[in-house]
Amino acid sequence: MKEIIKNKKLKQSSRSWILRQLKDPYTAKAKKEGYRSRAAFKLLEIQKKFKIIQKNSIVLDLGASPGSWSQIASKLVQKVIAIDLLEMDPIQNVEFIQGDFLDLENIKIIKQMLDGNLFDVILSDMAPNTCGIKKIDHLRIMNLIEEIFAFCKDNLKIGGNVVVKTFQGGTESNLLQKLKSRFEKVIHFKPNSSRKESKEIYLIAMGFKLRE
Ligand SMILES: C[S@@+](CC[C@H](N)C(=O)[O-])C[C@H]1O[C@@H](n2cnc3c(N)ncnc32)[C@H](O)[C@@H]1O
Repeated sequence: MKEIIKNKKLKQSSRSWILRQLKDPYTAKAKKEGYRSRAAFKLLEIQKKFKIIQKNSIVLDLGASPGSWSQIASKLVQKVIAIDLLEMDPIQNVEFIQGDFLDLENIKIIKQMLDGNLFDVILSDMAPNTCGIKKIDHLRIMNLIEEIFAFCKDNLKIGGNVVVKTFQGGTESNLLQKLKSRFEKVIHFKPNSSRKESKEIYLIAMGFKLRE
């Protein structure tokens, strides 16, 4: 990477991103510990604090690429199904679909892979493309979260847990109220490994209780 930033044709935004990566302790730690991205530490913190994944869980990893969350989940459980728009190098115990979670054809494939079972845990680190127009970006995030929880309705086990990336100020109160009636506990959590300057935050819903 040090060589790449010497390239004079590089855009300023790309140069800043690379410099940030070089300075970031979590990026270095991820490399050292064999994780495919620094995102690993966010799930590790969530798992340490909330124990959302149990030994026999069936896990769905939405927006899985390059794969550090799937790496972690696959070490804890036997069955992980993962999907991403982008390619992902294979991981043992992880069945991967390259495609859009919002595409109904892919939902059908996920259900086939489930083979009559339901998920114990649904993880989503997906973020929609932003266009910079606040209102539209907000609607895209809300739409994605609504789709994930609509999927939970038929595909999450009673007692199951969900972790969804959202953005500070992004989860509308009526959605939160709905979730609070469907889950035992709903909280927002910002892992230490999530960059302070980033607005990302995780919505964690535990103990699915109402399939309505
Ligand atoms: C922050 S990355 C995920 C990092 C991952 N958790 C890890 O640990 O390696 C977000 C991913 O979500 C994917 N994504 C965004 N929208 C998606 C969608 N509608 N369907 C599938 N994947 C999507 C992107 O392609 C991107 O790879």
